[in-house]
Amino acid sequence: MKSLLFSRFLLLLPWVLVVIVVLDIDSSRAPLPALAPRGGGRPAAARAPPQRRREAALPTIYAITPTYSRPVQKAELTRLANTFRQVARLHWILVEDAAARSELVSRFVAGAGLPCTHLHVATPRRYKRPGLPRATEQRNAGLAWLRQRHQHLPPPQPGVLFFADDDNTYSLELFQEMRTTRKVSVWPVGLVGGRRYERPIVENGKVVGWYTGWRADRPFAIDMAGFAVSLQVILSHPKAVFKRRGSQPGMQESDFLKQITTVEELEPKANNCTKVLVWHTRTEKVNLANEPKYHLDTVNIEV
Ligand code: UGA
Ligand code: MN
Repeated sequence: MKSLLFSRFLLLLPWVLVVIVVLDIDSSRAPLPALAPRGGGRPAAARAPPQRRREAALPTIYAITPTYSRPVQKAELTRLANTFRQVARLHWILVEDAAARSELVSRFVAGAGLPCTHLHVATPRRYKRPGLPRATEQRNAGLAWLRQRHQHLPPPQPGVLFFADDDNTYSLELFQEMRTTRKVSVWPVGLVGGRRYERPIVENGKVVGWYTGWRADRPFAIDMAGFAVSLQVILSHPKAVFKRRGSQPGMQESDFLKQITTVEELEPKANNCTKVLVWHTRTEKVNLANEPKYHLDTVNIEV
């Protein structure tokens, strides 16, 4: 009897191992072969060694994306992954606004085909109100992970961090621009602040003001999508975080940037801030008026 049980266990062992490997979500997996990004359609032999070497020399771009459960979530993440998959050496830090990792996002991450770290932290109920800043805790969780990961790795690998909300639209050129960030870089953002775009005003290669139609008194009149920070700066300012206390609507960016840089120090990108390479698009709330109250379909489909 015992030996029968033992042989059953041996038969099951490979499957147990497969399940453990699949569940290892916090990994910097290489892209899935079927989804191998970059390198176009050229044969593997033609691109492998030199391109790999060039890519290994690039600073890693860390994209911190807060995300929360809603009907359009998977669609947003799909759009984002389709962009990020085309960017060399990009590490996606996806932070769910939830008490636990959801199955939907976990499955999504496992098949996303790019290096991804999946974190979660729930926004306290008292902060889930209109007019209050969103995603403060999630961005801070991403920052904490980044700092912790590099704590024991002297000297830090070159890297660039930016905050990529899940509903914006990102051109591939944006990543080429931000990759050369030395400390903190800035660029225009389209469709934001009640205007077609907002942008830093540049004179002689320096930021001297802001073209904006909304709260021009902000020290850094820029959306979250309009700047990137080098990993060095993040590590050398270990206390720089997004704050709940005293933070007014629309001031999160300024409050954060004030802790790590000055306007004079900013590095203008996108042709001296004259090109829009990212858009603050917002997805319409979906109409579910005809959705049945109880499950009617014969199958259960993830949307
Ligand atoms: C604007 C800015 O572009 C955001 O960077 C800023 O966080 C936000 O205002 C704010 O008010 O705090 P907006 O389009 O109004 O953006 O905000 P959302 O796109 O709805 O949310 C920003 C990010 O936070 C998204 O990635 C979204 O998925 C996430 N989020 C939103 C959560 O994680 N939890 C929420 O409850 C709401
Ligand atoms: Mn948004």
